[in-house]
Amino acid sequence: MTFEPHNAAWLEQSTQRVDQAIADSFRHLALKAGGLKEAMIYAATGGGKRIRPLLVYATASLSGKPLDQIPGIDACAVAVELFHTYSLVHDDMPCMDDDDLRRGRATVHKVYNESTALLVGDALQSMAFSLIADSALNDRQKVTVISHLAQSGGLDGMAGGQAIDLESVGKPLSRDSLETMHRLKTGALLRSSVQMGGVVAELSQPDLLKLDEFASSLGLLFQVVDDILDASSDSQTLGKTAGKDAAANKPTFVSLMGLTDAKAFSEKLYDDAIASLSVWGENAQLLRLIAHKVQHRES
Ligand code: IPE
Ligand code: IPE
Ligand code: MG
Ligand code: MG
Ligand code: MG
Repeated sequence: MTFEPHNAAWLEQSTQRVDQAIADSFRHLALKAGGLKEAMIYAATGGGKRIRPLLVYATASLSGKPLDQIPGIDACAVAVELFHTYSLVHDDMPCMDDDDLRRGRATVHKVYNESTALLVGDALQSMAFSLIADSALNDRQKVTVISHLAQSGGLDGMAGGQAIDLESVGKPLSRDSLETMHRLKTGALLRSSVQMGGVVAELSQPDLLKLDEFASSLGLLFQVVDDILDASSDSQTLGKTAGKDAAANKPTFVSLMGLTDAKAFSEKLYDDAIASLSVWGENAQLLRLIAHKVQHRES
């Protein structure tokens, strides 16, 4: 697939846009609460691909409206990224994956301490919901967006998937169970990013349903690629510890089917994701760009 130079420029500008919006959202918080605010800023700034906010922006762009004319769009983009960052901070803690490296830097519990890392996650999660509640969205949009984010983070989303992940250490999972785990722990938040962008930009119900097909494939693809990179890349390139899944005896698509078949599966998911976008023709080029980035990323 080939992309125009303005597509690459869009990725760069949109990443800068959300980075700026994240920095602004912390600037508006007066209380430092000891070292907590500083640790939250450490977690949320200085790296990250910002895939989830990019999905919010790209989905909203399907409406044809410029982002500046979509009230509340940046609040949604920031909220989903802060929510994701919370999940990373907790994922890295000694009681979970026990990782020292994240986004090329020391993890939050290493730089600060475990109780701070726990509270950083808690506070980032609350901040995500506050940002939406206080945003320029109308009340109906607020409730819908909050519902998407809450659902994707809870028992039948990220937290549930993480629980299955931790309980599965050392156990071979069936293909179906592994897929369910990945769809929950990673796919759910990516799906809600797409739905949030669509709700904010007032896309139609049929469009939202069709977009969910794209996001389902992309969400699973994202974690399959994460498994592949863990097994085939190095820590320097990844910005996080490579080889962690095998060392921790985690069931992954690589442990289940081997690297070659896992790569073939990722290609199938990528093709499925792209196929679900065909109804929008050229208008969905930004979503194709993100899917391409997810499939071909090195970190
Ligand atoms: C890593 O997510 C955790 C998973 C859900 C696989 P990302 O690969 O999006 O991490 P950042 O935000 O770019 O650091
Ligand atoms: C975690 O999956 C996904 C989250 C919900 C944070 P991983 O544990 O594989 O993520 P990485 O590899 O540490 O980023
Ligand atoms: Mg994990
Ligand atoms: Mg991890
Ligand atoms: Mg991983």
